Amino acid sequence: MPIQSVRSRAVLVLLALGLVLLAASGTSWWPAAKAADKEVATDNLQRSLLLDTYRIVADSGAERGETLYFYKCWMCHNQYTKTAPLLKDLYQRKTLVGGAPVNDDSVGAKIKDGGPAMPAFRPSLSDTDIADLIAYFHSGKCCVEGENPPMNPFYRAETHKWPVPSGVTGGATGVVRIKSGDSPEGVGVQLIAPSGVRTTVYTDAAGKFEFPRMQAGSYTLRIATPVPFKPYRRDSVAIEGATKLEEIALERVAESDNLPASPELESQLSGAEILWNLPGTAEEKATLQKNCSGCHSWQQIFRSRYDEHGWSLIVDRMMHFSGTAIAVRNRPMSDPDPEAALLVKFLTRVRGPESQDAPIRVFPRPRGQSTRVVVTEYELPQQLLALHDAALDGQGNV
Ligand code: HEC
Ligand code: HEC
Repeated sequence: MPIQSVRSRAVLVLLALGLVLLAASGTSWWPAAKAADKEVATDNLQRSLLLDTYRIVADSGAERGETLYFYKCWMCHNQYTKTAPLLKDLYQRKTLVGGAPVNDDSVGAKIKDGGPAMPAFRPSLSDTDIADLIAYFHSGKCCVEGENPPMNPFYRAETHKWPVPSGVTGGATGVVRIKSGDSPEGVGVQLIAPSGVRTTVYTDAAGKFEFPRMQAGSYTLRIATPVPFKPYRRDSVAIEGATKLEEIALERVAESDNLPASPELESQLSGAEILWNLPGTAEEKATLQKNCSGCHSWQQIFRSRYDEHGWSLIVDRMMHFSGTAIAVRNRPMSDPDPEAALLVKFLTRVRGPESQDAPIRVFPRPRGQSTRVVVTEYELPQQLLALHDAALDGQGNV
């Protein structure tokens, strides 16, 4: 149930070591196939980039519009809140509240410009994004209220049954080398099974890694969260028992530790890394941590851009409304909130229409004991939800 979803991410993080419920995306047997044994410029298996660009359900069209709506519009336009009109029958109406006739131009303009109680989405939504939202309004499927969440296009556990490894050693081994000579410790090496389940292990100080023993077959091999290195991916890698994999040679994205602040690289940072990279006082950052950690990731905040008016509406909604659908005002508008005011100033500075990020840095990778971990990530059947609780079946599927 997406309505409950926002509270669940912290729970998921607790589950993370050993059982991470995230999802995968296209691989060799999936739509965006790439030739085997080829390094790709952007690894389209990098789920964080798909999340940040709202492409976890579809690349374009009404289904992508639904994803945008879920993250950006539903918080105000839902059946529980009385403060914004429901948009379900938008195109059956003759006019907008403001009097303009309802058509793609007027609706697009409304989304870009917002209103007294609606943020202007001009800074964060492109014409293509808006076209996808409008396709969603036309599709007759608008608007999400928590029922019938869309299918996860990359869920394959039903059609491609595949055992999930239960041990921690005895599988494929290999070595990672960094071309520039940096320490190869703490690099995440990932195998994706035909079912879409991902297994990630980490390199030791010598760059060596060892997977758990897996079902023999053909896997996709990649570096999980490659930043600060260029993506590395090989499809159709045959694994049988303790297969020795060929050396993985990684190349830095930049010679300096300062990395370009591109969406591809920024999407790979953890929330803490993003906040650390942004200019701001300890007071600003601690206030964000205090008020914005309860329900969703910081990625969700920092992938958004609004002007000051827009941020004031978003921060007000996030801090002063309660209930699962954040629909009920719990602090009157007449009661000034200095923490909210401080956050609006901070967010407008670092995520305003014109804000530019300085080159980014990443935290040091795990070392020593911290590399002794196996992470298993499962696909879930549906998207636009994040569960509170999950259970495994006898085959190791969620
Ligand atoms: C912070 C709350 C808020 C958010 C977020 C929000 N809206 Fe609104 N929206 C409103 C309010 C309030 C109105 C009615 C008053 C007005 O027109 O400004 C409205 C009006 C509209 C209207 C005009 C409806 C009519 O019948 O006149 C459209 C279309 C619309 N919103 C689309 C969207 C879309 C699409 C998104 C997401 C990209 C979105 N809104 C996000 C609060 C919000
Ligand atoms: C009470 C729970 C809650 C808290 C606390 C919270 N949020 Fe949210 N936030 C939501 C919900 C619900 C959504 C809608 C999307 C979803 O369900 O994940 C959302 C979405 C957003 C979005 C839009 C994301 C996008 O991709 O466009 C932004 C921006 C945002 N929140 C900012 C903040 C900020 C800033 C804070 C701290 C002031 C904060 N949130 C704290 C519940 C919360």
